[in-house]
Amino acid sequence: MNFAAIKQIEDEYQIATYKKMGVAVERGRGSWVWTSEGDKYLDLYGGHAVCATGHSHPHVVEAIKQQADKVLFYSNLVYSEIRGRAAKKLASVAPEPLSKVFFCNSGTEANENAMRMARMATGREKIVTFTGGFHGRTADSISATFLGKYREIGKPNVPGHVQAEFGDIDSVRAVADENTAAIMLEPIQSMAGVREADPGFFQELRRLCDDREIVLIFDEVQTGIGRTGSWFFAGSDDAGGVVPDVVSLAKSLGSGIPVGACLVSDQVASHIKENDLGTTFGGGMLAMAATLATLEAIEHDDMIANAARVEQHLRDSLAGRACIVAIHGKGCLIGIEFDRPAVNVHKRLLEKKIITGTSSDPNVLRLLPPLCVTTDEIDLLIDALAE
Ligand SMILES: Cc1ncc(COP(=O)(O)O)c(C=O)c1O
Repeated sequence: MNFAAIKQIEDEYQIATYKKMGVAVERGRGSWVWTSEGDKYLDLYGGHAVCATGHSHPHVVEAIKQQADKVLFYSNLVYSEIRGRAAKKLASVAPEPLSKVFFCNSGTEANENAMRMARMATGREKIVTFTGGFHGRTADSISATFLGKYREIGKPNVPGHVQAEFGDIDSVRAVADENTAAIMLEPIQSMAGVREADPGFFQELRRLCDDREIVLIFDEVQTGIGRTGSWFFAGSDDAGGVVPDVVSLAKSLGSGIPVGACLVSDQVASHIKENDLGTTFGGGMLAMAATLATLEAIEHDDMIANAARVEQHLRDSLAGRACIVAIHGKGCLIGIEFDRPAVNVHKRLLEKKIITGTSSDPNVLRLLPPLCVTTDEIDLLIDALAE
């Protein structure tokens, strides 16, 4: 089918919930995708922050094929070797004390379960989240999302959600009390325009949570799985070494096969009993094969070190460039702040066959490339921006 025909059937039969780019993607490899018209695009948005291992990484594809030949699915009602190995591998790359895994299917579901575990562990209901944070679109997660119009879309909101100012510990102290089950945050606020906080802020949060016996949750749906130059933002220098009690994950975890997960401390996990949490599809064999292979590929190809290298290269190359006000973010989660609307830059780059992302900050262009993106590929962006 050509692009016009593809567009016509999608527009006719799908509810128009997304403002789409005017391309139909047919295949992908590494940092590149090819369209229905045979055009090749450099994908610096990584398939919507999902394809950390690059598009169709051969090791991941092979693992999925082999698993599909054996059995596609059985739920957590049975044991499974591939599920056990995926959980062990994920726990093995996580900082202590995160040692137990709950698998689900998406980022919003991971956050719903993270908040539920916090309520179960504390016997409290209130959840503190932050202005500018995004946590998903199901009822509890959208109620925790104090960014733009999302809570409005999600009405009626789940009660018990309050907001604090990202990076401002006094604003957290003012709302976190003896009724608070959890403080949850994106440690780098991606959709808000790649907003960062000081390491000291995370240390203060950890102290506050310890003092008031509150569960600390990092929503690492975007920052996790190597994206910021370490396996997790949790425990990194940028987090001041702070490890939360729960980390929620999705996006990169299955290289494109839907997988979500909560990584949980023993302490929090000890409060969760049989039938407290559940999902039919979470932990299915195909998803687990993709998860294990994703983690193996990132490790084998040394992609985490590459993410850090790419960030440095970008920063060096863009330093002092006209029109650029600041570069935000870490590793392969980068926000380029312009002195003008980023949407025009995004459009011009797309004309030059480079896919990037925008954010809710009108002047910030977001890059979420595969962790295997090369500095030569980044140079194509640098040259295009110069033009
Ligand atoms: C930080 C963060 N949390 C949660 C979500 C929700 O994930 P999903 O779309 O898989 O439900 C997203 C999605 O963009 C996200 O960026």
